[in-house]
Amino acid sequence: MVLSKYVARIMHPRPVSVIIGMSRTGEINGCSVSWFMPVNVDPFIFSVSLSPERLTYSYIKETKEVTLNIMPFRSVEKVHRAGSISGRELKNKLVELGFELESSSIVRVPHIKDALAYVEGILINELPFRDHSLMVFKGLKVYVDERYFRGNIFTEDAEVLLHVGGNTYAKPSNYARVE
Ligand SMILES: Cc1cc2nc3c(=O)[nH]c(=O)nc-3n(C[C@H](O)[C@H](O)[C@H](O)COP(=O)(O)O)c2cc1C
Repeated sequence: MVLSKYVARIMHPRPVSVIIGMSRTGEINGCSVSWFMPVNVDPFIFSVSLSPERLTYSYIKETKEVTLNIMPFRSVEKVHRAGSISGRELKNKLVELGFELESSSIVRVPHIKDALAYVEGILINELPFRDHSLMVFKGLKVYVDERYFRGNIFTEDAEVLLHVGGNTYAKPSNYARVE
């Protein structure tokens, strides 16, 4: 098999979130990301692998503040659009796509009202590669919708949005509990 960017698909399905950043002049933009992960528990550190081609990347470099919004399956169409269109082509992209934004408490970047959970964070480090850059953030605040989070895990009816690859998405089902 030829190694290509598509080989990363063997590491899907994975949850999808929308990362939002702000330019130095206060413009807001965000895009869908599935290459994100927790890195450290205390302090809470998380990482997102973002291509420098994304407008969101440029905004994050300018002000360092972000929100990372974990999205439910019911938002699949909006999330797919946010990950297919650049804010360079569509001004005020998130609002135009129908995302409802709310003010955050610590960072100046808003979060998505319908998110199952979100983290407010600040860029603390970066490891650049050829087409993506691993951006490392310190979490300053975490919010989770407790209707869908019990015993420290998302319930099945949270329907966390998973990206399988291309335009194919899924939601977790058939939770199994091991004694
Ligand atoms: C489900 C999904 C997941 C994505 N994950 C990533 C990712 O982890 N990293 C990345 O750089 N781009 C990812 N993208 C692509 C960006 O979201 C896409 O290029 C977007 O249009 C960039 O928008 P912007 O230029 O407004 O920032 C993903 C797209 C989709 C649809």
